[in-house]
Amino acid sequence: MSSSSLFRTKRVEQSIRDTEEPEHALKKSLSALDLTVFGVGVIIGTGIFVLTGQVAKNNAGPAVSLAFVVAGVACALAALCYAEFASTVPVAGSAYTFSYASLGELPAWIIGWDLVLEFALGTAVVAVGWSGYIRSLLDNAGWHLPDYLSGREGTPGFGFDILAAALVLVLTGILVLGMKLSARVTSLVVAIKVTVVLVVIVAGAFFIKGANYHPFIPKSKPVEAGAGLTSPLVQLMFGWAPSNFGVMGIFTAASVVFFAFIGFDIVATAAEETRNPQRDMPRGILGSLFICTALYVAVSIVVTGMQHYSKLSVDAPLADAFKATGHPWFAGFISFGAAVGLTTVCMVLLLGQTRVFFAMSRDGLLPRFFSRVHPRFRTPHRPTILLGVVIALVAGFTSLSELAELVNIGTLFAFVVVAISVIILRRTRPDLPRSFRTPWVPVVPILSVCASLWLMLNLPAETWVRFAVWMVIGFAVYFLYGRSHSRLAASRQAGEETLPGPRDGGTAR
Ligand code: ALA
Repeated sequence: MSSSSLFRTKRVEQSIRDTEEPEHALKKSLSALDLTVFGVGVIIGTGIFVLTGQVAKNNAGPAVSLAFVVAGVACALAALCYAEFASTVPVAGSAYTFSYASLGELPAWIIGWDLVLEFALGTAVVAVGWSGYIRSLLDNAGWHLPDYLSGREGTPGFGFDILAAALVLVLTGILVLGMKLSARVTSLVVAIKVTVVLVVIVAGAFFIKGANYHPFIPKSKPVEAGAGLTSPLVQLMFGWAPSNFGVMGIFTAASVVFFAFIGFDIVATAAEETRNPQRDMPRGILGSLFICTALYVAVSIVVTGMQHYSKLSVDAPLADAFKATGHPWFAGFISFGAAVGLTTVCMVLLLGQTRVFFAMSRDGLLPRFFSRVHPRFRTPHRPTILLGVVIALVAGFTSLSELAELVNIGTLFAFVVVAISVIILRRTRPDLPRSFRTPWVPVVPILSVCASLWLMLNLPAETWVRFAVWMVIGFAVYFLYGRSHSRLAASRQAGEETLPGPRDGGTAR
């Protein structure tokens, strides 16, 4: 077992060639506008609709808007790196494919495994959030689901969130039927969601009271002793007294509301299904990120101006801020829009997950059985159905708060790897055409690594422990299955790698 084979890289040309094998080819039907709609469809979700209130109340006060700016800047830096990769390696699989082409097989496997955390658990988190909004709408109409079908939150005995599980299964069916249908459904839902967000901003602006902004950055407060593993890692590392609010509270808040930005990277996973990825990918990624950042900052400023941060609700802060000002009709409309909007978030997260799984299986790191596309729908139906069922069970049986932090750490880790990969691929494959080039390399990728690491360090220590456990399992799967079944390894042995070698790419490193 040679250690160099752990870092064997897959030629970029090989990645693109794989997508052209008819049996494994996805339909190319998406435009830049589809991608932007796709991005906004998955980006705006539980983050802004639920987490805004939680972090304003617990960590940052009105300065939650600054937390959105901090997280948005970190994402913009990562987006600049993602855009270069997506336009250079237009193949399904996002950061997984990118790192296979630059860092090597083991790092690529790690990142693919890590993306499962982001996409699959993210889908489950959002499905549970969606179910909460639907239940609240049903309650308004006088219909009440029994506790044991309403999930685990606040239920002592057995609880299965039937609505969350049902949502995931229905979306699985839509994805199996094909991209075009799901893109059309997405556009409609995104329009409703953006309208609701704009209503919050415009209507809410009339109810702002200046007094609610004082203090804008509440004074730092120590948390009770014994918080231990629930404190941000950075505070434990440097022996600081764990605290909330103050300037450090803004960073803690940023590491949580980061969840609200997850999704722009998923636009990159649809590269293979894009008509002109070289031009449209960067536009789709940066466009959707920019729109969402502007909306988040505006929403958080308005909501913390409508209600004092200490009084914001943690379940449905946007709707409840309107209730508090005596406008229940607006509240109902916002709840409805949130429920509709979370549907697309779930769908795109699920789509991203199936595409990464598909790419890993096509490379032989997971069983090849999963990379046969459906003969009629041209979609990877097998991983879609498998993952849909597993995620439906996870969504049915788990509660969401800690899962969201786990999703964040997985995603930030992927950002770190992508940024490093940009620098490496510039050196090892300077010859590749790049329709979008990250500006000021290596400065921007290095800043992106620092920003992502900083947000990771502001997550609770227990999240780090869970992340480490997940990664250890991933290593075990790779060494027991992927390493010996890798298609790249097989083709190397058979001497199939015939393209002229670049400085490094054609040979194992
Ligand atoms: N960004 C998505 C959300 O906020 C995942 O729900």
